[in-house]
Amino acid sequence: MRACCPLLLLALAWGAGAAGAGAAGAASAITAQTLSPCYSADLKPTSGRLVSAVGCTVLLAAPPLNASTVVCWEYENGPHEGIILKYYLNKPVNTAPSYQNRTKFNETDFSLQMVLQLGDSGRYRFATEAQQTDWFQLEAIEPLPAPEIVGNSSVKAGGNAKLVCSIPEGKADSYWWKKNGELLLGSDHLQFIQNNTLLITEATMNDSGYYTCVVRNEVSQNETSFLLRVLNAANMIFPVIMACVVVGSLIGVFVWCKRRGCLRHCDRRWRA
Ligand SMILES: *[C@@H]1O[C@H](CO)[C@@H](O)[C@H](O)[C@H]1NC(C)=O
Ligand SMILES: *[C@@H]1O[C@H](CO)[C@@H](O)[C@H](O)[C@H]1NC(C)=O
Ligand SMILES: *[C@@H]1O[C@H](CO)[C@@H](O)[C@H](O)[C@H]1NC(C)=O
Ligand SMILES: *[C@@H]1O[C@H](CO)[C@@H](O)[C@H](O)[C@H]1NC(C)=O
Ligand SMILES: *[C@@H]1O[C@H](CO)[C@@H](O)[C@H](O)[C@H]1NC(C)=O
Ligand SMILES: *[C@@H]1O[C@H](CO)[C@@H](O)[C@H](O)[C@H]1NC(C)=O
Repeated sequence: MRACCPLLLLALAWGAGAAGAGAAGAASAITAQTLSPCYSADLKPTSGRLVSAVGCTVLLAAPPLNASTVVCWEYENGPHEGIILKYYLNKPVNTAPSYQNRTKFNETDFSLQMVLQLGDSGRYRFATEAQQTDWFQLEAIEPLPAPEIVGNSSVKAGGNAKLVCSIPEGKADSYWWKKNGELLLGSDHLQFIQNNTLLITEATMNDSGYYTCVVRNEVSQNETSFLLRVLNAANMIFPVIMACVVVGSLIGVFVWCKRRGCLRHCDRRWRA
């Protein structure tokens, strides 16, 4: 039992109204919401549990509890637990050092605003000298960075192309692929391997285009595109035609020279 609100202990010790001050004192629940601007997390208020993004501000709203002397906000994060702030009504707010910079406490409605850091996932509750709320579960998740795509940027028609999508940091809950903005579905020709790899077998010209890998976690979605070019047979035939033309011309010149040479030769003979 922590001594955030010492009168809570007193009330229990006296036994007077112990039933009201114990577990049954968890009269009402905290509601919380992510405040705008937050490019990633959902902004709807929730009770019980909130998933939000690191760097965003969360508003924890205290329910109306009986408070005549002191109120406080508490957290519990695995083995770590403690008091975020304690407020003796109409006295200066006493905020723990690691929260001073990034919290705002409203002395009228006792709500708490907090800019989330990575280690903030845990349980939170609000207490007065007489009552406390249930624990509220908060998850602080990092938004995903843009993924990286590594793979074949150009392949010959008939060959296989492999594109591997990965995120430099964090963990994606899901991956999917789009081609020229449209969702790709798997087939014999287009296979998804281990969620993050796209394998195109026996590529045709038709497979050329912009491939986008989309990654998502609970608070964010990010994507990167990659241009794949499939070089079709025409790209191979053209140089061959060019080569034929060149060789053909050379033969033509050779024949022409030879003929002229012959004429000259005949000419010389005629004069001789
Ligand atoms: C508060 O933030 C400033 C700058 O953002 C930083 O220099 C300072 O160390 C922070 N203080 C605490 C207690 O975190
Ligand atoms: C504190 O909460 C009250 C009641 O919800 C509100 O009217 C007031 O503007 C808030 N004060 C601050 C500084 O946010
Ligand atoms: C995608 O990630 C980049 C950093 O890699 C970030 O600047 C950008 O804001 C992210 N986009 C979204 C929609 O989260
Ligand atoms: C695709 O790339 C891999 C490795 O970079 C390479 O081994 C393979 O030959 C390439 N495939 C084609 C069809 O170019
Ligand atoms: C692919 O997804 C499954 C379930 O969705 C997961 O168990 C597996 O770890 C994922 N693999 C990779 C490489 O992300
Ligand atoms: C090329 O792809 C489009 C759709 O992406 C399809 O309708 C068309 O039949 C394909 N053409 C060939 C030659 O495969």
